[in-house]
Amino acid sequence: MTVKKTIALIPGDGIGPEITKETIKVLKVLAPNFEYTELDLGGVAIDKTGFPFPEETKKKVKEVDAVLMAAIGGPQYDNLPREKRPETGLLALRKELQTFANIRPAMVFGSLAHLSSLKEEVVSGTDLIVVRELTGGIYFGQPSSNDGETGINTMIYTKSEVKRIAKVAFEFAMKRGKRLCSVDKANVLNVSQLWRDAVIEESKNYPEVELTHMYVDNAAMQLIKNPKQFDVIVTGNLFGDILSDEASMLTGSIGLLPSASIGTGELPGLYEPVHGSAPDIAGKGLANPMAMMLSAAMMLRHSFNMDKEATLLEESIQSVLAKGIMTPDLGGKANTIEIGDAVLELVRKASSTALHSS
Ligand code: NAD
Ligand code: IPM
Ligand code: MN
Repeated sequence: MTVKKTIALIPGDGIGPEITKETIKVLKVLAPNFEYTELDLGGVAIDKTGFPFPEETKKKVKEVDAVLMAAIGGPQYDNLPREKRPETGLLALRKELQTFANIRPAMVFGSLAHLSSLKEEVVSGTDLIVVRELTGGIYFGQPSSNDGETGINTMIYTKSEVKRIAKVAFEFAMKRGKRLCSVDKANVLNVSQLWRDAVIEESKNYPEVELTHMYVDNAAMQLIKNPKQFDVIVTGNLFGDILSDEASMLTGSIGLLPSASIGTGELPGLYEPVHGSAPDIAGKGLANPMAMMLSAAMMLRHSFNMDKEATLLEESIQSVLAKGIMTPDLGGKANTIEIGDAVLELVRKASSTALHSS
């Protein structure tokens, strides 16, 4: 409870500020000594400075202990030149912090399997993580251009980049079910054949982990057919983006999926929900703040070793859901603030006993 840390807080656009408010409300109880610096990124930064990743943000994100962000983007920015788009700012932030590994867990809690749009017996017991490569692949490969006649992007991975992300995935697998599935498109793409070969090379360091390979099209299908077959999935930037949104529906809503973007540990980690700024529901009190709260829990655990606080937050969120208090994305009637209040109440109760008694 005495841990003093500084957090860069990026509320961003759309539902971002709404879910940030609820998340901080709860974090303040769990970690009263955290200090927050609010920074602009994405659309709000474009409105103020003309740039999606202003110099001040660039400088300050490196001076803190962790970065917690909500989401960026919106239709009003979709026709700006690529370098001026909110999404470009987010990619630059990830690159700046060298957060090459994006951990996206999808866990279906026993009593909450009915929340999924899939059959309860299919999703119940699902507990997987997608380890998505985040600072390479087709998102960053050159050449990249669009002259109105021809659009180009380049999917590129080096062996060392693949081995680096594979190592992270193997380490997670070692701490979990010791099963790793590498997802690629090696039947068609050269870059994927290199990916597969590099993962196999790295696997020599992890003889205890059972490594399998799956083509991305099949993986998309298998995730829906039998998600319980997966423990850890490792994949490239684009495939990981798509598969993690898909995996969110196993849990019931993308409003429940958190993520941690981590690098070598020398720079701060970046914690962000998997979902976007949800412009369609922004300002209406309909946003589910749980994915951001769960991202904050990942921050407590991964950046600060505050396991007890992280678990307490996760369990409070599960209890709120189990009581049927949920936002409309999960079929409930509660608004964003009511979710914040419900989680806050449980966190308060639990922390006054669990945290102070030790
Ligand atoms: P989105 O994730 O914002 O929304 C997809 C759907 O899910 C929408 O119907 C939305 O209402 C719903 N949804 C998302 N989060 C929710 C939440 N917390 N509670 C309830 N419902 C939620 O994806 P999109 O519509 O494709 O993109 C909107 C904007 O967000 C785009 O500008 C996109 O580039 C951006 N985006 C940003 C991030 C990020 O900041 N990390 C991630 C994805 C998309
Ligand atoms: C995500 C988002 C981002 C991505 C966009 C907004 C740049 O979809 O975090 O999943 O594609 O990585
Ligand atoms: Mn995405």
